[in-house]
Amino acid sequence: MSYYSHLHLEKEPFSTSPDPAFFYRSYVHDSSLKRLEIAIRLKRGMSLILGDVGTGKTTLSRALLQNFKDDGEFIFHIVLDPNYKSEFQFLASLIRMFGISPSIKSTLDYKQAIEHYLFQKVVEEHKTVVLLIDEGQKLSAANLEILRTLLNYETNEYKLLQLVIFSQLEFLSRIKKIKNFYDRITLSYVINPLSLQETREMIDFRLHQAGYHNGNGKLLFNDDAIQNIYDYSQGYPRRISRICHDALEFIVMHEKESVDSQVMQEIIHHQL
Ligand SMILES: Nc1ncnc2c1ncn2[C@@H]1O[C@H](COP(=O)(O)OP(=O)(O)OP(=O)(O)O)[C@@H](O)[C@H]1O
Ligand SMILES: [Mg+2]
Repeated sequence: MSYYSHLHLEKEPFSTSPDPAFFYRSYVHDSSLKRLEIAIRLKRGMSLILGDVGTGKTTLSRALLQNFKDDGEFIFHIVLDPNYKSEFQFLASLIRMFGISPSIKSTLDYKQAIEHYLFQKVVEEHKTVVLLIDEGQKLSAANLEILRTLLNYETNEYKLLQLVIFSQLEFLSRIKKIKNFYDRITLSYVINPLSLQETREMIDFRLHQAGYHNGNGKLLFNDDAIQNIYDYSQGYPRRISRICHDALEFIVMHEKESVDSQVMQEIIHHQL
């Protein structure tokens, strides 16, 4: 049963996928996105976006891609899971992504081929090459060293590679110890959870994007329910989204019209 059609919605409002169409621009999400865009356009090198589990890092990376998608000057490459066992494996994967095929398969040759590729794209073809790495906390020390090498490739004015790492908070204490890597971060931004007001706005935004029209003036989630959601989720977008999904499913199953505090308490009571 698709609950959303019972509520006159066109789409599922609280899916857990990082769809940019459902990206609510909270203050932190919006300002981090703008600052990332500026860093990339100015070719400043490395940016780091940190945030706890489920704060919206992957969603933010999709929104960033979306913002650049019609601009042919930018070439984006994305690593979703940088859990490479060796430097060679990491380089080999970058080589494949960049669409280059050096004749000699060695770490040194791969690095040189990447430098050549970056020079060609950025200096000769006037493109901006951006490498997005999600799940940055999975990068090993050896692979951080590879990234540091790639960031050394530069002209007098700018870096040849724009690197954006999205990572959980634990990564910070690790990289602080690697001074020559840490020093190269030009933008760092921590994604904090949402406020109560933003929690309401995110829910309303996602409902609106899913085609919900508040025709009879009645809110689908009343204020008490929002307060319950906030208390439960502490403003973490993934938790907000999940609990809202459960709440809508509940009211459809119980033939109710809206989510109130009683519904929320019932649902929260059954969460893990
Ligand atoms: N700004 C936002 N607006 C609307 N929904 C959001 C927002 N940020 C996150 N979400 C929702 O929260 C969920 C988790 O987001 P996301 O996967 O981006 O988090 P994450 O920080 O990458 O988590 P993890 O650390 O586990 O990788 C997704 O379902 C996403 O749709
Ligand atoms: Mg993620």
